[in-house]
Amino acid sequence: MSDVKNNNESDLRKGLEGVIAAETKIGYVNGTEGKLFYGGYEIQTLAEQSNYEEVSYLLLHGKLPDRNEYEKYCKALKEKATISKNVEKIIEEMAGKVHPMSILRTAVSYLSVEDKRESESALDAQKEMGESLIAKMPTIVAAIQRADQGKDIIKPDPDLNYATNFYHMALGKNPDPIESKIMDTALIVHADHGMNASTFSAMVTISTMADMYSAITSAISTLKGPLHGGANERALKMLQSMGSPENVEKKLSEMHENGERVMGFGHRVYKVYDPRAKILKKFAEYFGDRRKDKLFATAMKTEELMINKYGERGIFPNVDFYSGIIYDSLGFSTDLFTPIFAVARISGWVARSLEYASNNRLFRPKANYIGDRGPLKYVAIQDRE
Ligand code: ACO
Repeated sequence: MSDVKNNNESDLRKGLEGVIAAETKIGYVNGTEGKLFYGGYEIQTLAEQSNYEEVSYLLLHGKLPDRNEYEKYCKALKEKATISKNVEKIIEEMAGKVHPMSILRTAVSYLSVEDKRESESALDAQKEMGESLIAKMPTIVAAIQRADQGKDIIKPDPDLNYATNFYHMALGKNPDPIESKIMDTALIVHADHGMNASTFSAMVTISTMADMYSAITSAISTLKGPLHGGANERALKMLQSMGSPENVEKKLSEMHENGERVMGFGHRVYKVYDPRAKILKKFAEYFGDRRKDKLFATAMKTEELMINKYGERGIFPNVDFYSGIIYDSLGFSTDLFTPIFAVARISGWVARSLEYASNNRLFRPKANYIGDRGPLKYVAIQDRE
């Protein structure tokens, strides 16, 4: 009887849309008002007044650190930031052959080889692995950028903060103070975002009592897709192909006619302007004034036409629309945009995996069976038509 009830089509929530499957204190997305909170702090406040290390601590510990805790956490991240020669070799071996997200997935998975506690599921071991992953993520992604460009890998500099160090290792120079603030802010606004697809992936993996390396490898694989983290690089390529504001209308109607989605627009939760896109738009505008091309003007025209056409249906720019312009202006290659997303989101992935593991229940949803209920007669292979 219960099977019949559970197989009722009205119970179906494709993509688990709207299904509440966990409780959390880490962060909250208010999709109707366009607000995002980490541990009770509004994203705008954190973007303006905090930094990535503090935000990472907040996500992991549920409170902002005092000075002592902050210094201890920064020191721990710096101490664990170096990657081994073997990880560097893997990155160099794969560079140029596959997408950087595939290199990242492999490198992170390999890290477990170097960790004696890799298959432990005890919470303290998972925490140690998580902290190590947060520390190493910028080093790995920066190394991928360098190797992809045939350049030498740069080691972490303990005198630099998380965002500046990442920029330095990837681009081989130090950012100016404005670029450093922009890099830091981009990492803050991407650090966590509810039970999105990649975070959910990490949580499903950790719910089986697998280790943190497995959970983060799952998350990276999920972030890769164009409907999730991969949208930023496609959004930039779309703007570059438009070239100038005069071409936007034609390109958008072509896309519409072909049934193509406009990358960097729409969101499963936000049906108003994404608050993260609002923050990043100001920085994109800053670079727009300095760039020689018409990329920002093209983005503005795209936003205007898209909101006119789809705004009433709740389709607005999302975080990926402006992040691409920023990363491109900072000097990163386009295929590094999604790995940069991972550098930021690693804190959210680890925090939410640990939170879920501390009150674990194996994820196991059901599917509505719509196939033949039989029982069918089995026909031997030689007798089948
Ligand atoms: N361009 C054109 N039409 C769109 C877009 C878009 N970007 N997004 C949604 N729509 C339309 C759909 O075609 C659909 O129309 P229909 O009802 O006529 O069939 C309607 O809006 C609803 O679409 P859904 O896919 O049901 O909406 P959902 O809330 O699931 O979509 C998603 C969210 C997947 C992000 C979608 O907006 C999309 O594909 N956007 C482009 C990819 C993108 O930018 N992804 C990044 C998301 S943010 C992040 O992951 C960090």
